[in-house]
Amino acid sequence: MPVSAVPDTLTLTRPDDWHLHVRDGAALASVLPYTARQFGRAIVMPNLRPPVKTTGQALAYRERILAARPEAGQPGADFEPLMTLYLTDLTPPEEIRRAKEAGIVALKLYPAGATTNSDAGVTDIRKTYTTLEAMQREGLLLLVHGEVTDPAIDVFDREAVFIDQVMQPLRRDFPELKVVFEHITTRDAAQYVASAGAHTAATVTAHHLLYNRNAIFQGGLRPHYYCLPVLKREVHRQALLEAIASGSDRFFLGTDSAPHAAVMKEASVCGAGCFTAPSALELYAEAFESIGALDKLDAFAGHHGPAFYGLPRNTGTVTLKREPWTLPESMPFADEASIKPLRGGETLAWRQCNVV
Ligand code: NCD
Ligand code: ZN
Repeated sequence: MPVSAVPDTLTLTRPDDWHLHVRDGAALASVLPYTARQFGRAIVMPNLRPPVKTTGQALAYRERILAARPEAGQPGADFEPLMTLYLTDLTPPEEIRRAKEAGIVALKLYPAGATTNSDAGVTDIRKTYTTLEAMQREGLLLLVHGEVTDPAIDVFDREAVFIDQVMQPLRRDFPELKVVFEHITTRDAAQYVASAGAHTAATVTAHHLLYNRNAIFQGGLRPHYYCLPVLKREVHRQALLEAIASGSDRFFLGTDSAPHAAVMKEASVCGAGCFTAPSALELYAEAFESIGALDKLDAFAGHHGPAFYGLPRNTGTVTLKREPWTLPESMPFADEASIKPLRGGETLAWRQCNVV
């Protein structure tokens, strides 16, 4: 490629993060500004302890998020959280109308026990069918953590088995429901989403685009690379890269930035989650550049998500420059704790320089 074809500046439609964990309380205050300075909006995951199960809880959580935004006049002060509810076996169908009227956009399906704070999740999708009918009717989206939890199924196969056992019947029974297969990690999921029709989409994280499962074991056990769904083989990473390079509007940005204090990650039982919010766009730019697809980043980050959710695009822009910088190894987190971002202490090639 001629040198002139490789840009040194990328100006993007102000993007959105369609899958984000920001926690609550002091932790929320520590992490939210990183997202607000890059993204116009974010889909906020409801897996707090206890989970956000009702419209009232979601609206109260929304207020706490708004209060944690940067001050008026600072970049990110206008950040907008998009709220979700945690779907359980017992979510009443009447909750869906209330949620819709309150501006809640989606419900999150966690198979019970699949990941961090998912004990209250769904034990059998059929138990939620009357609620899913209400969602289909009201136009709320279903966001799925696409892994089965059967201990007999190998952890690396759980996403593929989920497609057969849950996604296919779900699509057959609710053809009009908009479903987002969150944080896909396998070729199976990428192919499934590409062939599943206009009402099925997927979010893709930066870490699943940049790393395969070797990263977890590089020179010793690396807890900061442990997330769920767990990183997969290289063949799967390549399939995710092909999906984003295709430019298909059914794949869009969702960081799944999942903050845990460093002491929780560097423990004998390590919590699942990669904290990527401090350099999310930079990591995506690196992934797209690695396959010569930087021209596809703008639509992936700022156009496909709003189109699928039926929302307008953001109006501003963000600019990234090719400028090597070192991401801090550790950052303050909640009450005197610290947090280690993915790639902390390492040099990144791209750097966000402004939000307009
Ligand atoms: C998430 C978290 O920590 O809340 N962890 C993760 O590894 N992604 C939960 C989730 O989205 O699975
Ligand atoms: Zn998540």
